[in-house]
Amino acid sequence: MLDKNSGIYIPQHVGIIMDGNGRWAKKRGLPRSIGHRYGAQNFRKITRYISKTGVKILTLYAFSTENWKRPIEEVNALMGLFRQYLIDLLTDFRYDDIKVVFIGDRSVFEPKLIKLINESEEVAKDRKGMLLNIAMNYGSRSEILRAVKQIGREVRDNALDPDKITEDDISKRLYTANEPDPDLIIRTGGEFRLSNFLLFQSAYSEFYSTETLWPDFDEECFDNAILEFNKRNRRFGGV
Ligand code: IPE
Ligand code: IPE
Ligand code: MG
Repeated sequence: MLDKNSGIYIPQHVGIIMDGNGRWAKKRGLPRSIGHRYGAQNFRKITRYISKTGVKILTLYAFSTENWKRPIEEVNALMGLFRQYLIDLLTDFRYDDIKVVFIGDRSVFEPKLIKLINESEEVAKDRKGMLLNIAMNYGSRSEILRAVKQIGREVRDNALDPDKITEDDISKRLYTANEPDPDLIIRTGGEFRLSNFLLFQSAYSEFYSTETLWPDFDEECFDNAILEFNKRNRRFGGV
């Protein structure tokens, strides 16, 4: 297991695009919803592991603003899992002192789910361990649009001088306000794209893609991503 004593540099902020649940199920002749169930179980297990490695912030992509395009049965199965797992989060993550925050537009979810989301944040708000951002109904373009609208209102109200707006002013109006940018973004399922995840924040993130499908992504797979990250030479535009 990787930890502070292993001599390996542990990134502060890791983002994970949890992809491949559907293909995992298909390979086994099972419905996609079963893949999501195994994916959700893995989410819980791997989050607890990562919280012990010394990672300070973990941002997990659970449902995108584009995922509503899926068949209604699949969307309903996912919403059912979110409801079920939020209750577990309330109980389980407290053992690891994990602080849970949801990023994305929660207002469109059904009232019962919104209540669970709010409660799971509230119960965890004083925890001192890893910060877990769960991206749900999250899309980076809509996140940036939201920030632009907010800035527009502040300019209109004379609270902000348009000539003095900085990159930091934009950062501060994103869901990840006051958090360091992700050092590493992992994508399971083999694709090499961001699919609208943390576009502004990932300007200098290292990208790691693995063929492993999300339900199979275990502790060793995570360790391998960190070992690979340790070989990267981050220049940030310098030499
Ligand atoms: C990722 O797995 C989970 C969500 C997007 C909710 P997919 O459902 O996208 O699985 P594949 O990519 O079709 O295999
Ligand atoms: C990205 O996966 C979204 C999440 C993992 C929540 P998708 O399966 O939706 O992405 P695309 O469609 O392959 O780009
Ligand atoms: Mg997918």
